[in-house]
Amino acid sequence: MDALSAQPAWALALAGVGLLVAARASARLAMWLYAAFLRPGKPLRRRYGEWAVVTGATDGIGRAMAFRFAAAGLHLVLVGRSPDKLAAVSKEIRAKHPRAEVRTFVLDFAAEGLAAKVDALRDSIRGLDVGVLVNSAGMSYPYARYFHEVDEELMRNLIRLNVEALTRVTHAVLPGMVERKRGAIVNIGSGASTILPSYPLYSVYAATKAYVDQFSRCLAVEYKNKGIDVQCQVPNIYYSWRFMRSPDCFLLPAVQLYIARSHCCYLYFSAYGVKDFIGNVVGQLVT
Ligand SMILES: NC(=O)c1ccc[n+]([C@@H]2O[C@H](COP(=O)([O-])OP(=O)(O)OC[C@H]3O[C@@H](n4cnc5c(N)ncnc54)[C@H](OP(=O)(O)O)[C@@H]3O)[C@@H](O)[C@H]2O)c1
Repeated sequence: MDALSAQPAWALALAGVGLLVAARASARLAMWLYAAFLRPGKPLRRRYGEWAVVTGATDGIGRAMAFRFAAAGLHLVLVGRSPDKLAAVSKEIRAKHPRAEVRTFVLDFAAEGLAAKVDALRDSIRGLDVGVLVNSAGMSYPYARYFHEVDEELMRNLIRLNVEALTRVTHAVLPGMVERKRGAIVNIGSGASTILPSYPLYSVYAATKAYVDQFSRCLAVEYKNKGIDVQCQVPNIYYSWRFMRSPDCFLLPAVQLYIARSHCCYLYFSAYGVKDFIGNVVGQLVT
């Protein structure tokens, strides 16, 4: 105490500010740890509605989410471009979760006439209590390349699939959610645009994912007061799911963890939470 009172007022004031900053960072860390690892999942069906629409449901993250939603008691509309793969996934889900009703909708997001096809999707879900939309369909480059080497088809497909399709599907599903005053939209972005400062040789991919990030942020604010949660998840594990199928793939445990944690990831695990947390802590340390 004597030592403290011997300090000049300006030093005590600075120490007080430092303590406040440290307390704030600790509280944020504790809250993030709780939200990421401990907080139980929301009762999706009760909170948001009976159905989930999942794009890119035939593989990877979308497929894994479809299984988790079925386990959580939701019915599913699986959207994909391959009728065979859609049939196979729905059969698997029905076998594992017999109470889940599973519908499929064939839609190639890279094909011509996207607007009309999404309109048909909108018609097919009319009247369903769609509570959750996951926009997982997406693509990257087949391999790294300079921007001037990106051909017309790749550029068009990246923008169509990662930007236009996600925007249109969201536009098709949202009105029902607004009417029911509840819903959750999960867009799958990428660490390539939100965590990494740049992602050279994948510029168009990273730029499309930056769109997903900002689009989601804006919608989250726009629809917060309408009972609709909007989230952008940013996987940052650089693997190809097809490559991952190899049983000796060294990344397999990491991806299994991502999917296994997804019960607390989806709808809770804010992509921005991690990035902002790291950004804030690092920012406060270095500035
Ligand atoms: N995996 C990662 O490390 C990683 C990292 C960052 C971000 N992401 C993002 O996470 C999302 C899912 O990635 P993932 O790894 O799960 O990918 P994935 O395993 O390759 O699955 C992609 C899904 O999108 C579908 N799809 C592809 N092109 C389509 C088209 N033209 N029309 C309709 N559906 C189409 C695929 O259908 P088919 O089964 O017919 O091919 C598949 O269901 C993507 O948006 C991706 O950009 C992934």
